[in-house]
Amino acid sequence: MNLTDFEKQETPFYYYDLQLLDATLNAIREAVEDAPHFHVHYAVKACATPAVLKKIAQAGLGADCVSGGEILRAVENGFPASDIVYAGVGKTDREIRTALEHNIAAFNVESIPELEVINELASEMGRTARVAFRINPNVDAHTHEKITTGLNENKFGISMQDMIPAIRMAESLKHIDFIGLHFHIGSQITSFVPFAELCKCINQLTAALEAEDIMVRSINVGGGLGIDYDCPDEHPIPDFNGYFNTFKKHLKLRPGQELHFELGRAVVAQCGQLVSRVVYVKHGLQKHFAIIDAGMTDLVRPAMYGSFHKPVNLSAEARGEQATDQYDIVGPICESSDVFVKDYTLPLTRRGDIILLKSAGAYGEIMASQYNCRKLPGSIAE
Ligand code: LLP
Repeated sequence: MNLTDFEKQETPFYYYDLQLLDATLNAIREAVEDAPHFHVHYAVKACATPAVLKKIAQAGLGADCVSGGEILRAVENGFPASDIVYAGVGKTDREIRTALEHNIAAFNVESIPELEVINELASEMGRTARVAFRINPNVDAHTHEKITTGLNENKFGISMQDMIPAIRMAESLKHIDFIGLHFHIGSQITSFVPFAELCKCINQLTAALEAEDIMVRSINVGGGLGIDYDCPDEHPIPDFNGYFNTFKKHLKLRPGQELHFELGRAVVAQCGQLVSRVVYVKHGLQKHFAIIDAGMTDLVRPAMYGSFHKPVNLSAEARGEQATDQYDIVGPICESSDVFVKDYTLPLTRRGDIILLKSAGAYGEIMASQYNCRKLPGSIAE
């Protein structure tokens, strides 16, 4: 789509570039081609738009889900249930039943009470649940505090001390098949060092388990690979080779062991943009505001995490506008945190200009809300 196409649409909406998604999926495929025991799942939580899910399923990725709703959405859009893993600290009975009905690949279990409930429901349904324990490795991902998950203080997973008793219990339950370990240290991780540290931690854990005669068939290292929000045009595809090579190099896998990944952001973030229109340009006493029709209800990341989504004024670029000004780009919501960026230099901006907010494919549309009785943003994928 180009500017003229964008102008014809009602804004705001998400635009997904399926060609870039294809190229991203190809880069993933090439990076794991020589490692048939690597299984990449897509973290559905990042973006569950059907056209996007269908493309990812067609590329052969599995799905990582965190709710019954995500399991159903993944199945509807072509992910085989046998490639679905399911995590979450608060799985409800209904959600566990949904997962058991579909006979998904594995539950990533986060506590003993959850294990007991899964066993009970599986028994009622005459099923066996494959289970991996989510272990909290206490590895610092050095990312935003709201998206770090692998520290002792976080609510996720089972501590390393509790791991062996939990496995022993799983082995004793009739409707549980213990398959392995699951980890996830955080999101938007832009250095490979925390992943290498995770590998070292897993090596120690699997050695300790071997000493206890516990066999680990499957290891799941979660997701977390970050993207370049500052320069999306220069780096539209993350460094998948560097990422997967870190695991090839540092993780000591035993023969027959499978390694699973759950990548969300790295797969879809750069493929999506939020397309908005300038409603007013307002000259305040100290600042100039570009007020756009998209708000924190459409893209909450800047308000919630202080994230940056690179703005581009497509209309001004098309006019060949040379002069610039500094703007606070803000939304229409009645909250002072409804700000996308402050003091940002854009070409002179006018009412009606189309402004793109880039790198919004992950945790964008899916986190939209209806606050202020607003319509959810639509989407176009092509
Ligand atoms: N696996 C588990 C268990 C997770 O909790 C997550 C993300 C992922 C995989 C995928 O992580 P990714 O590859 O996308 O980093 N809303 C926040 C991000 C929250 C991430 C939650 N968990 C944001 O907008 O930055």
